[in-house]
Amino acid sequence: METKKRNSFGGSIGFVLAAAGSAVGLGNIWRFPYLAAKDGGGLFLAVYIILALTFGFSLLTTEIAIGRKTKQSPLTAYGMLRKKWKFLGVLSCLVPVIIMPYYSVIGGWVVHYFKEYLVGNGEATADNNYFKGFITSDLWPIIMMATFLAIVFFIVFMGVNKGIESSSKVIMPILLLSVLGIAIFALTISHTDETGVVRTGMDGLKVYVIPSFEGMTIGKLFTVLIDALGQLFFSLSVAMGIMIAYGSYVKDDANLGKSINQIELFDTVVAFLAGAMIVPAVYTFMGKEGMENGGPSLMFVSLPKVFKAMGGVGNVIGCIFFAMVLFAAITSAVSVMEAVVSSLMDQFHLSRAAACIVEGLIALLGGIAVCLGYNKWYFECPLPTGDKGNLLDIMDYISNNCLMPVVALATCILIGWILKPSAVIDEVEKNGSAMGRKRLYIVMIKFVAPIFLFLLLLERLGIMKLA
Ligand code: ALA
Repeated sequence: METKKRNSFGGSIGFVLAAAGSAVGLGNIWRFPYLAAKDGGGLFLAVYIILALTFGFSLLTTEIAIGRKTKQSPLTAYGMLRKKWKFLGVLSCLVPVIIMPYYSVIGGWVVHYFKEYLVGNGEATADNNYFKGFITSDLWPIIMMATFLAIVFFIVFMGVNKGIESSSKVIMPILLLSVLGIAIFALTISHTDETGVVRTGMDGLKVYVIPSFEGMTIGKLFTVLIDALGQLFFSLSVAMGIMIAYGSYVKDDANLGKSINQIELFDTVVAFLAGAMIVPAVYTFMGKEGMENGGPSLMFVSLPKVFKAMGGVGNVIGCIFFAMVLFAAITSAVSVMEAVVSSLMDQFHLSRAAACIVEGLIALLGGIAVCLGYNKWYFECPLPTGDKGNLLDIMDYISNNCLMPVVALATCILIGWILKPSAVIDEVEKNGSAMGRKRLYIVMIKFVAPIFLFLLLLERLGIMKLA
């Protein structure tokens, strides 16, 4: 296997911004605020932050260290650590292969909404049937998905430095400033509803940050924990092979511990700010009930109504919002694609161009299938969680709910019990700086994380039911 000519990030800033770009994505912007609102506001925030600093930190450190230690992509890294564990590389690489098509489809929806706001047609998107009409139409979602994929393809094709690192250095500061700007704006708004009740952005902020224990039971508390755990995976881009791929491009003398702290901080701050801009805005214009629609409906159905209710300024805010979501989605999709491309390059010795074409085609065909899954190929399949899902939901279920907990659990067993945590700690300390939270890391990777992951897996497989 080739190890000599591997590319590396030019510097720590480039690595941190690229990894933060991967972490900050659709997960932070639509899923985090929705879960926070559903799971008791400040309570979810507190649980999430504690988990991010312990569980998230341990998984992120492990994957980045595996990447740097082996200088391999996810597909080949596990086999290099222990020959018999090559299967884990295959599973880990399968996750981004499955995610890429449907992430591109949602990315395409964002491109479309951005275009609508850009040409001043934002109000039309607030119509109750607009979103459904758009995603179930024949050709347009496919064209939008292909447009999104083409942008991502181009960045990955340009390579680690000229593509991934350079684009992240431009996109990430803009993204942080826009999310901060809209979050501050959201606190200044107010609205009087038909019954004469006045709600302000500051009221919404309280709903978001003050813990609510209304109707709280042990079962519900457990739901908050499991929701926060599931969100952490997706948000930090762990168990997707991504952080192994990015870790493999980090130079040996870089301070890994410091970079990991910065990535964690960036991701959590953006998730918090995304909540601080969305929860108060939706609460002000739609009340608490407005927050009940999670996932795609929140971003593509509820928010356009909020922008419409803002009047003239709403179209501008909507345009900045969807540009920001698009940026976040692009840098994440780039990392998802890079995990597969680097794997193809390492395993089959393909050139970057050839690997990009192979993965680009898989994503394009898969993306077309997902788009058709909303019209010609529409079907609903019962999922073990009790929900019913179409093709996109099924792919999301397999990758997010089944494969990712399995990959993370197996990684904990490999590092915690077979190779021992010192394999990761030594890698982090290779440049001479001591690893922070070292004892915590050992306890997490050996005991706490595997137990949590096992429970998460049981719940996601429908074996253990929560209240
Ligand atoms: N971490 C990325 C997200 O949150 C995949 O969307």
